[in-house]
Amino acid sequence: MSWIKEGELSLWERFCANIIKAGPMPKHIAFIMDGNRRYAKKCQVERQEGHSQGFNKLAETLRWCLNLGIPEVTVYAFSIENFKRSKSEVDGLMDLARQKFSRLMEEQCFLNVCFAHEISNAVREMAWGVEQGLLDPSDISESLLDKCLYTNRSPYPDILIRTSGEVRLSDFLLWQTSHSCLVFQPVLWPEYTFWNLFEAILQFQMNHSVLQKARDMYAEERKRQQLERDQATVTEQLRQEGLQASGDAQLQRTRLHKLSARREERVQGFLQALELKRADCLARLGTASA
Ligand code: IPE
Ligand code: IPE
Ligand code: MG
Repeated sequence: MSWIKEGELSLWERFCANIIKAGPMPKHIAFIMDGNRRYAKKCQVERQEGHSQGFNKLAETLRWCLNLGIPEVTVYAFSIENFKRSKSEVDGLMDLARQKFSRLMEEQCFLNVCFAHEISNAVREMAWGVEQGLLDPSDISESLLDKCLYTNRSPYPDILIRTSGEVRLSDFLLWQTSHSCLVFQPVLWPEYTFWNLFEAILQFQMNHSVLQKARDMYAEERKRQQLERDQATVTEQLRQEGLQASGDAQLQRTRLHKLSARREERVQGFLQALELKRADCLARLGTASA
C-alpha cells in the first residue's frame, strides 16, 4: 500500500484547504524537522522510536502537501554537526534514512533531501572552472553561484519551517531562503499536524506581497549591478583602444551585447563540464561503495 497516498484529508481539513487555496500558494516548502529526541523523552519511548516517528511524519506531511497542491518539498535530514552524535544514534538514523527514503522515492518525486550544506562546494566548483580556463574570473557572480547549487533546478523555497521552537537555520539552505517566509513553530516534529502546516501557509499568505516585492527588487538589483560591471569593462576596453565610450552609444551597445553573449557561452560550457564532473564523481562513489 502506498505510504504517502494512503489516507485522505478529513472533510473539515479539505474544506479549509479549499479556502486557503484561494490565496497565493507556496510552490516549494522546506522543513527542518527538529525535535525527535525531545518527543521520545516526552513520550518515554526509545530515541530511535522518536526518529522513526519523525520519518513517518514526513510521509504524512508530504501527503498534506500533495493534497494542497504544493509541488516541491525539501527537507533537512541530517547536518554535518549531527555526525558528532553517538555512533549508535548516527547508525540508527542512517538505517532509517536508507529504509524510509527509498520507500518515499519509490512513490514520490517531488522531495529533495539535504544532508549537508553546499555553498562552499559551489564556490570551489566556480574556482575550478576558472582554473580550467572554462570561466573568466569576471564571470563569477551571484547568478552563477545559483546555477552551481544542487537546488538549481528548483525554485527557491517560499516557506522555511523549523519545528521544536529552535529559531536558527543550522546551515540549511542559507542562500536559498534569503527571501523565504521563515516560520518557527514550537511543535515537536513527530507531533506536527495539518493545522501547523495550515498556519505556516497562512503566515506566508499574509506576507506574500512583501516577500514578492523583496524578491523582485533583489533580482532587479542583481541585473543592475551586472550591467554596471559590464559597462565599466566596455569603457575600459574602448579606452585602451583609444576610443571614448560616451562618444558612440551604438558601439557601446554592440560591445555590451558581445560581452554578455560570450559570458553566456562560457557559463554554458562550464555548466556542462560541471555536470559531467559531478556525474563522474557520483559514479566513482557508487563503485567505491559497491
Ligand atoms: C531532529 O531531531 C532529527 C535530526 C537531527 C536527525 P533531533 O534529533 O535534533 O531531536 P531534538 O532536537 O534533540 O529533540
Ligand atoms: C538540525 O540538527 C538539523 C536537523 C534537524 C536535521 P540539530 O537539531 O542537531 O540542530 P542544531 O545543530 O542544534 O542547530
Ligand atoms: Mg534537534
